[in-house]
Amino acid sequence: MGKQSQYVSKQPDENGIIHWSDEENGIWKDLVERQLECIPGKACDEYMKGLELLDLPKDRLPQMHEINEVLERETGWQVAAVPALIPFDEFFRLLANKQFPVATFIRTREEFDYLQEPDIFHEIFGHCPLLTNPAFAHFTHQYGKLGYAATPKERVYLARLYWFTVEFGLLKTEEGIRIYGGGILSSPAETEYAVNSDTPERKPLKALDALRTPYRIDIIQPIYYTIESVDELFKISDMDIMALVHEAMELGLFEPKFPPKDAA
Ligand SMILES: [Fe+2]
Repeated sequence: MGKQSQYVSKQPDENGIIHWSDEENGIWKDLVERQLECIPGKACDEYMKGLELLDLPKDRLPQMHEINEVLERETGWQVAAVPALIPFDEFFRLLANKQFPVATFIRTREEFDYLQEPDIFHEIFGHCPLLTNPAFAHFTHQYGKLGYAATPKERVYLARLYWFTVEFGLLKTEEGIRIYGGGILSSPAETEYAVNSDTPERKPLKALDALRTPYRIDIIQPIYYTIESVDELFKISDMDIMALVHEAMELGLFEPKFPPKDAA
């Protein structure tokens, strides 16, 4: 957001249908196949249930209306087709209206493993299954409302809470570590690493700590915050998050656990 992107979102036609090329459908198919192999035993049960409900096509990109029918029925959410990069104001406005922004482009083969801009695979495969879950859906809605009303400086803090939950959140369950963050679930390398590697720190989530933890978007994460169940997101939604944001602003950020970008 706020930066340039090499990608341009595809426009839906007058019936809301996006005409994807064979090449684009092929990229979707290969991304989905690869990720479906990685996630069993690593993605949380709520995610797997959402994936089942969505019943995403394997050999072509899904259309927005197909996703909307399921989300609307389960939690009242919708997906909204947006340009590759949108202003923060628009991002929060959409979430506050239970519309999850989906940039309607798919990565090229050259960026098959990693791209900085969130594409339709990340948004739909990574996030939409959890949007069928009431706790996750409620949390995302509350977050959108807070963010929409927040100042730019407050939003920078809020973004960290989103990062360590919606994007990179882990569950600590009796069966072991499970993933609910869509940033992890749309990356095979990070799916494996987040669950099985001894390298990252995994700490129980305290909202105030997450608000104070710096992150980089272009590296595998050195720290994850865990919750015990997705339902814990209901509790976090009920907290006075903005009071915590102000507290975090006063206390300042933790030392980064990664090198500065230029030295990396
Ligand atoms: Fe995302």
